[in-house]
Amino acid sequence: MSNSLTLPNKVKIVEVGPRDGLQNEKVFVDNEIKISLIDQLSTAGFSNIEAAAFVSPKWVPQMAGSELVMSGITRKPGTIYSVLVPNLQGLEKALEAKADEIVIFGAASEAFSQKNINCSIEESIARFIPVANEAQKYGVRVRGSISCTLGCPYEGDIDATKVVEVVQRMADLGCDEIDIADTIGVGTPNKVKVVFEKVGRVFPIDRLSGHFHDTYGQSLTNIYAAMEMGVSIFHSSVAGLGGCPYAKGATGNVATEDILYMLSGLGIETGIDFEKVARSGEFISNALNRLNGSRAGKAYISKLGT
Ligand code: HMG
Ligand code: MG
Repeated sequence: MSNSLTLPNKVKIVEVGPRDGLQNEKVFVDNEIKISLIDQLSTAGFSNIEAAAFVSPKWVPQMAGSELVMSGITRKPGTIYSVLVPNLQGLEKALEAKADEIVIFGAASEAFSQKNINCSIEESIARFIPVANEAQKYGVRVRGSISCTLGCPYEGDIDATKVVEVVQRMADLGCDEIDIADTIGVGTPNKVKVVFEKVGRVFPIDRLSGHFHDTYGQSLTNIYAAMEMGVSIFHSSVAGLGGCPYAKGATGNVATEDILYMLSGLGIETGIDFEKVARSGEFISNALNRLNGSRAGKAYISKLGT
């Protein structure tokens, strides 16, 4: 059976586990473990891995030492290693670390912007201008991430026009890609479609991504809905790790193993080795002494054990 005409033939998965997944862990994860995880993931075939964050260690202690992680990994040629950068201080470190892509991160919610990066949306854009300019001067890709596009832990519903406004501002900064993030996983398919329909009018749909946290168990359905709108870039986290320290109760991103299983079933190409990802999901879950949050990963690993 061939794919539905509305679904893409190929999807790019950005693995965000080493950053979004680990940033919320209370106990500091050794750099050796972070490095090993990233290297396992590049071996599995991801073309883009969000590896670290050059943010204030006072705000997110888990990301301290990101420079050691970046210098410790074995770079796989062709793989884009991305890092979060909130300001020029972070950019300087990202350039030193030879990151391939920086991620400037804002929000569609004023309250979340204040909680997460200690400034208003307007101030954040002003702060991002020199960061984006400088990165572009050095030929580093710039991705813009927008939190709370489908709801906010402080403000509740977020109007899609606000999301469009921030996408436009990020587009004006020359972003190569823009992430539509459901930080607290409250979105449902129709809402996802409305938002992508609107933002797709101001930024090319093939450079927009879906970054869905799975708090309410909606992420796979939301990904399917976004694919029907033409979106072909999604973020996921191995073993479903993660959450945001400034979004109480929010759980991890959609598990990478789960989205890979779904896409494989749909005949959509990703270039990623499912078994290798499932094994790295087990590796990191064991290393953190936590339950593996991927249904598909757990099922596959337990089948291997029989
Ligand atoms: P601030 O306190 O207003 O900034 O924080 P500041 O300039 O006054 O600096 C305070 C201290 O931090 C100073 O140190 C600076 O040097 C230091 P002190 O003088 O007190 O010793 N500092 C830095 N250190 C290292 N690297 C830096 C840096 N910048 C300042 N880059 C700031 C403002 C933006 C820095 C802070 O709020 C911050 O770092 N926030 C980051 C929060 C964060 O990382 N959140 C999680 C990632 S976002 C996310 O998960 C959402 C996403 O997944 C999408 C979604 O799901 O929604 C992307
Ligand atoms: Mg996130």
